[in-house]
Amino acid sequence: MFKTAILTASDKASQGLREDLSGKMIKEILSNTQYKISNYTILSDDKDILINHLNKLCSTDIALILTTGGTGFSPRDNMPEATCQVIDKEVPGIPEAMRAYSLKITPRAMLSRAVAGIKNQTLIINLPGSPKAVNECLTYILPTLDHGLKIML
Ligand code: MTE
Repeated sequence: MFKTAILTASDKASQGLREDLSGKMIKEILSNTQYKISNYTILSDDKDILINHLNKLCSTDIALILTTGGTGFSPRDNMPEATCQVIDKEVPGIPEAMRAYSLKITPRAMLSRAVAGIKNQTLIINLPGSPKAVNECLTYILPTLDHGLKIML
């Protein structure tokens, strides 16, 4: 069993102006798997707020944080920068794999700046913001994650 957190970054969803369909998509994909969701939070795109929350999660026994949103080019897209401020070790292979796979579906996959990395014994993975992209990326990487997490823990 891997304790897992979902973090959605969206100014609109955090104000209740939009339903968080991407966070819901992560929940749905992880249901009936060994990944048990112990924290699900929707925050604004503010970089310092994201850093603060990620740091808190990384000081718990949560093994995996899946973020969604904020990986593109908008001035308010801060998730990769927040993640880089928190992690000690980068794991470039995961976003490389997501982009390589996603490019077969849409050339727009090159526009995601997603990163992944480890702080303490927590792996953080950025997923893009749309439910479709979450589904494509997470479904692709999920079967390989447990091997890495077992080594990390
Ligand atoms: N990856 C996959 N698999 N499928 C997609 O539809 N959309 C792309 C990209 N990655 C997409 C994808 C688009 S259109 C953008 S702008 C970037 O992710 C960044 O999205 P974000 O800003 O919502 O994080």
